[in-house]
Amino acid sequence: MAYENIQVAREGSIAILTVNRPKSLNALNGKTLREMTQAVRELADQSRALILTGAGDKAFVAGADIAEMAPMTPWSAREFSELGHVLTALLEDIPCATIAAVNGYALGGGLELAVACDMIFASENARLGLPEVTLGVTPGFGGTQRLVRLVGKLRAKEIIFTGEMVDAQTACRIGLVNEVVPQAQLLAHCKKVAAKIAERGPLAIARAKRLVERGYDMPLRAANRQEAETFALLFDTQDRAEGMKAFLEKRPARFVGK
Ligand code: CAA
Repeated sequence: MAYENIQVAREGSIAILTVNRPKSLNALNGKTLREMTQAVRELADQSRALILTGAGDKAFVAGADIAEMAPMTPWSAREFSELGHVLTALLEDIPCATIAAVNGYALGGGLELAVACDMIFASENARLGLPEVTLGVTPGFGGTQRLVRLVGKLRAKEIIFTGEMVDAQTACRIGLVNEVVPQAQLLAHCKKVAAKIAERGPLAIARAKRLVERGYDMPLRAANRQEAETFALLFDTQDRAEGMKAFLEKRPARFVGK
């Protein structure tokens, strides 16, 4: 499938999706959101890990496209917001791991995309923020909800209400990114983490992801029951038999996803 605003690359079982509108700092217009959604759906089935990044060395994604939003009516803004919600929910729902390689500005919709990923690695020059209030609107792709869950209410409100950016080191300190790496090594670092995940049992990764995502909004006892059921169900899989056999035979496991 040929895309206009994104690039998709496959390296074995790892996929790399690059938002490719560097002239507007990879801002997300409707077409880009639709292309990303389609690509993520396609890649999810064929990949063990998906890396999201932005073209160029300045921005991951500098937010939703302000030029496209400026003439929107409340109804078209609602539809636009839904596009972002579909994509961010999809990133949480797909069975493969998602890694945001934040290689510069991750603002507004860009940060909202990153916080919907399973992990975030940032380059030293990264700046993260939700500047929507400077434009007279709220975050629209889940930022008010996911940011709070990641960094807590006090820090999330400071970031949302001031519209100020935080630098990469601060983001790391408050738990908004996993790790900060030099820009030249960012993609290689993300690929290394992705490759590690790709070696593991894919059913186990998919189920662990679902348990974390679904369990987050559930009471602890109910979520733990779900964990026990999932743990038990995986005992019926070839991968579980292979994983334990390989350990006992002191060799690497060969997982097949069954
Ligand atoms: N939408 C559209 N175009 C954008 C953009 C955006 N979010 N961010 C940057 N651009 C464009 C600029 O208009 C500029 O285009 P021209 O060259 O045609 O003038 C180009 O990208 C380069 O940007 P700057 O010249 O502004 O670069 P800079 O280095 O001086 O500043 C910046 C970088 C601080 C990131 C600045 O571009 C900026 O503040 N961008 C907007 C950030 C923002 O407000 N994002 C939130 C959008 S709202 C949102 O995302 C809503 C939601 O939740 C759904």
